[in-house]
Amino acid sequence: MNIDEGLKLVELDDSGVNTAFRADVLAGLSQEPKAIPARWLYDDAGSQLFEDITQLPEYYPTRAETEILKGQGASFAEMIGEGRAVVEFGSGSSVKTPLLLAAIKPAAYVPLDISGDFLRAAAADLAQKFPGLPVHPVEADFMRRVELPEEIASLPKLGFFPGSTIGNMVARTAVDLLRNMRETLGVGAKLLIGMDLIKDEDVLVAAYDDAAGVTAEFNRNLLRRINRELGGDIPVEKLAHEARWNDQNARIEMHLVASEAIEFSVAGKTFSLDVGESIHTENSHKFNRRTSNMLLLAGGWDPTARWLDSEGRFSLLLAEARPNRSAP
Ligand code: AVJ
Repeated sequence: MNIDEGLKLVELDDSGVNTAFRADVLAGLSQEPKAIPARWLYDDAGSQLFEDITQLPEYYPTRAETEILKGQGASFAEMIGEGRAVVEFGSGSSVKTPLLLAAIKPAAYVPLDISGDFLRAAAADLAQKFPGLPVHPVEADFMRRVELPEEIASLPKLGFFPGSTIGNMVARTAVDLLRNMRETLGVGAKLLIGMDLIKDEDVLVAAYDDAAGVTAEFNRNLLRRINRELGGDIPVEKLAHEARWNDQNARIEMHLVASEAIEFSVAGKTFSLDVGESIHTENSHKFNRRTSNMLLLAGGWDPTARWLDSEGRFSLLLAEARPNRSAP
């Protein structure tokens, strides 16, 4: 049975269970080490908790990126130029996108999102803030190549991918996405992309393990979702949130760590965790100038400019899709 959940296609079985969620959870709990894809953190409660995270004193990325977008408008205008169609990968938040659009005088705005609800809300919000700007929302999975609307075919393009969302992906997936973005936008396009920077481990860990415990709630919400939607009996209070810096892979990892040996069932299958064993729930990769440039190049994008916030915590990079030429 397919239910059009506000345009988001979710496949449910006869008892109303999201089959992709169940398959990911059962597979992830059956493997060693245990891991569940981060996208399942973002149900309604999880999305709200992430909004709360962006307001926390320890969580600097949203504030730092917004500071760049507020302060560097003139520089964006000069480097990007007027008259581009801005294609945003993920629906724009009501804060960041208007800052960019106000700075560069675009010819059109094209938000891409897999969720029709978010997409319509973002499109309506932007159309109201920028009367006269053509807005063409596209419901699509931006991890794949996307067919852009006919109306913007002849316009030069600017891809916009803020928030360091690219950091959630392992390198192989990030490169696949960047290459698909190049296919979607075409040679001659530019890309403005946010990447969070490698910094003091204590600062990074605090940003993902805040004193108020909001990130812990965000992480443990996944367990509550599993119990509720997949008929699980995971003892949520025996799994502790942990933010861990993995230096080899330059990333913060979120884990749920068993405080004692536990056994539980999900969708009729039983699983166990030893004391100290964890379920890995999210990666947030961090970059420096060279690793961010290398990632962009591997995805077919030549870096051309880079901006940091005043405290040097976060980067916005501009890159260009140049024609493929034979290289030595
Ligand atoms: C939304 C993926 C950018 O990695 O910083 C924040 C998600 N997880 N705190 C990030 C997140 C825990 C966030 N991104």
